[in-house]
Amino acid sequence: MRSLIDIKELTTQEIDELIVVAKDIIANPAKYSEKCKGKKLATLFYEASTRTRLSFEAAMYELGGNVLGFASSDNSSASKGESVADTVRVCSGYADIIAMRHPKEGAPLVASMHSLVPIINAGDGGHNHPTQTLTDLLTINREKGRFDNLVVGLCGDLKFGRTVHSLIGAMARYNNIKFVLISPDELKVPSYIKQELDKSNIEYVETRSLEEAIPELDILYMTRVQRERFFNEEDYLRLKDTYILNMSKLSKAKDDLSILHPLPRVNEISVEIDNDPRACYFEQALNGKYIRMALIMKLLGVE
Ligand code: NCD
Repeated sequence: MRSLIDIKELTTQEIDELIVVAKDIIANPAKYSEKCKGKKLATLFYEASTRTRLSFEAAMYELGGNVLGFASSDNSSASKGESVADTVRVCSGYADIIAMRHPKEGAPLVASMHSLVPIINAGDGGHNHPTQTLTDLLTINREKGRFDNLVVGLCGDLKFGRTVHSLIGAMARYNNIKFVLISPDELKVPSYIKQELDKSNIEYVETRSLEEAIPELDILYMTRVQRERFFNEEDYLRLKDTYILNMSKLSKAKDDLSILHPLPRVNEISVEIDNDPRACYFEQALNGKYIRMALIMKLLGVE
């Protein structure tokens, strides 16, 4: 039995295989409509979500399976003081696979130690978000047709943004990747991630200026400032609108730039960008359903 807690647990070959399956699902959805018949997915979400939870649930339904779960800790027994270990031990008797989101870093890992069924980390605090990364990789693959030789800009809250941490962890394995890390000083990528990049000799630069960085980028990954992880509201208010991608900034970008965003967007991307052919974020959200279908099948051992 295998869980997915960190994107680094997947080999490059496994990621490639998931992408091949996801693309086949897109091309031939009917072929997959009964693959998980009789199976149940539990979504245990202790933290807010729209895309991740609903795409997991849609994924399971499109595979012919069923879903159960809770969408907030308020209406689960967590509000009575139950531990993650106990909840998961019980729920693993009700479902064949579990997707868990939790505000505490490491909670899905703890869950995987107490579960009888595979656990998928659907986001743990400011740490990791491996299925968002699979979504991002499918999007990059469909947009660019490759993972090598790319200049990848990550912009916004690189400190608390778990999608950023997982995406760097995944992209760092490909050849000739350069990361351009665009953030205010207070929201820089954590040093443990920079140490990993240094150790593997991967090129990266840190900058505060989106305008200066944008001309060389092949991918621009915008992120929201993670209000819920701030210690005080004042800092959030000061930093929240540091970056707003608008047409004037985009005019300096390559014609084939791909703009990604895990969503939800607050103000980071002006709505005038939405109809630009470089905007990929709504397709990206849809890709999340297909890659989660592929992942559920893989972890359940469905052919
Ligand atoms: C992200 C998350 O939850 O980390 N959302 C998502 O899963 N698509 C990004 C965010 O909340 O800003």
